[in-house]
Amino acid sequence: MKKVRLTASVAAIMAGSAFASSALADAVNIYSARHYDSDEILYKAFTDETGIDVNVLEGDSDQLMERMQREGIASPADVMLTVDAGRLWRAEEDGLFQSVDSDVLNERIPASMRDPEGLWFGFSQRARVILYNRENFDPSQLESYEDLADPQFAGQVCIRSSNNIYNQSLLASMIEHHGEEGAQEWAQGVVNNMARTPEGGDTDQILGVASGECTLAVANHYYYVRLLHSDDEAERDAARKVGVIFPNQNDRGTHINV
Ligand SMILES: [Fe+2]
Repeated sequence: MKKVRLTASVAAIMAGSAFASSALADAVNIYSARHYDSDEILYKAFTDETGIDVNVLEGDSDQLMERMQREGIASPADVMLTVDAGRLWRAEEDGLFQSVDSDVLNERIPASMRDPEGLWFGFSQRARVILYNRENFDPSQLESYEDLADPQFAGQVCIRSSNNIYNQSLLASMIEHHGEEGAQEWAQGVVNNMARTPEGGDTDQILGVASGECTLAVANHYYYVRLLHSDDEAERDAARKVGVIFPNQNDRGTHINV
């Protein structure tokens, strides 16, 4: 039940052991799987306001979590920044998190976007959307994730491998809404409709739609936005050939993750 609840909710800051006492410390140690300039600005603003230095260790999410696991109780990590409720759930299962009870966090972050026990707090959201080729697909033909399994789309769907956490969380939401059997049936239907054996990341699926190799693809929305604003003109051209569907507007809404 917990897995399902996490998956249905949002974003991803999570607090470690020394977070609550950081106001007394000279520095706060952050393990971050994000690498954005906007984060640097936040860290600097925090230091300017509090006089507390921010040390950041950047890395791959799974590697950082393994490291925390190895370091155990001696881990210097105060805060971890990562993505995906599925990953947060795994970390929670591994006992990496301690709960935080903060009036500020509870007030500013809606209950649906944080762990009920205060083990993690969401601060940004992504939608797992469906992309289509503007030239040969009429978006009114498809309105839900369920439709991706419709035999009328045989040979048209591109999606990355199921070993990726984004797809695992999407599948968890299908289990929540359709049960395990229904979700398995759906997944089999999607596999039957695949345009190719899964390869590459989300961006490769979108580029597959642009090139015409697939008509439909599943990807997180920000990969599309990133292509639209790419420095590479070919990528911008590719993105312009692609349209976005936010599925399930007539029922539960689009799958959002933290
Ligand atoms: Fe991503």
